[in-house]
Amino acid sequence: MKKIAVFTSGGDAPGMNAAVRAVVRKSIFHGLKIYGIKRGFHGLINREIVPMQLGSVADTIHRGGTILLTARSPDFLTPDGQAKAIAFLQDQEIEGLVVIGGDGSFRGAKVLHEAGIATVGVPGTIDNDIALTDYSIGFDTALNTVIDAINKLRDTATSHERIYVIEVMGRSSGHIALMAGLAGGAESIIVPEAPFDLTEVCNRLQRGVDRGKQHSIILVAEGAGSAMHVGEEIKRILQLEVRVTILGHLQRGGTPSAFDRILASRLGAKAVDLLLQGQSGVMAGFYKGEIKATSFDDVFSQAQTFAWDDYKLAAILAI
Ligand code: F6P
Repeated sequence: MKKIAVFTSGGDAPGMNAAVRAVVRKSIFHGLKIYGIKRGFHGLINREIVPMQLGSVADTIHRGGTILLTARSPDFLTPDGQAKAIAFLQDQEIEGLVVIGGDGSFRGAKVLHEAGIATVGVPGTIDNDIALTDYSIGFDTALNTVIDAINKLRDTATSHERIYVIEVMGRSSGHIALMAGLAGGAESIIVPEAPFDLTEVCNRLQRGVDRGKQHSIILVAEGAGSAMHVGEEIKRILQLEVRVTILGHLQRGGTPSAFDRILASRLGAKAVDLLLQGQSGVMAGFYKGEIKATSFDDVFSQAQTFAWDDYKLAAILAI
């Protein structure tokens, strides 16, 4: 293998640049020519390719976002779009590809793998909803962003003795809400994975008020519902002061945490090793403490594990 490329795809995540940096530098270390594709699958179809040198990724390990840009590509879902992308890679004699992104990006990567272009995925999404990797790049940083927001909101919630309902991202998963709720000491955590019982939430809040709790924090995963609606219902039922904050894309930015930089560096370097070993159609993941390859088919075959023990623990610790 002499020539490979890397791109970032789907929602950006803090740490993606650290992964790109690792792919570029590990490739050069092994004497490979390395190229960056701009704007993910959209860039493949539109032939947006740039040669990458050591200096191309200088001073990027600490930067959020992705220097290669990213985009969602409906065109790549079409046979014509896929054919254009494959023809481009063949014209450029690109033998291997590292795709940094989420589940959807891996499904596109599998198409390229099946077309004979060696492809390795690196899990990068704040949602952490990719199976068979304990962590995806960006999750830890997003978690810390939410914790910082909870800390700030807790101050004003205490001063005004209010209930705060905070909506976090996660698409159809509740991993951000759960772990941020546990780490942030939330009174209730509302996630798509668990049935939502408004009565239980209100009873818990009322018990807290009755024993003198000065404030309460409730986390709502966007896939479980609207924090605005939850807030309105709590106000209607309990006649208490409620405020709602939707964190939105704040969770996608910021300098990556040390954990995400290290994870990204390890996974990016591993992806290059896997290509050099002739592997394809696999994800370079961090699973049960080991950096390892897992086939895309196995990744697609199951949902990411939901930490039920942590979900129960969070409820106990917030009584
Ligand atoms: O997949 C990452 C994510 O941030 C989700 O948590 C969120 O629902 C979605 O992307 C938002 O997509 P966009 O950036 O296209 O609005």
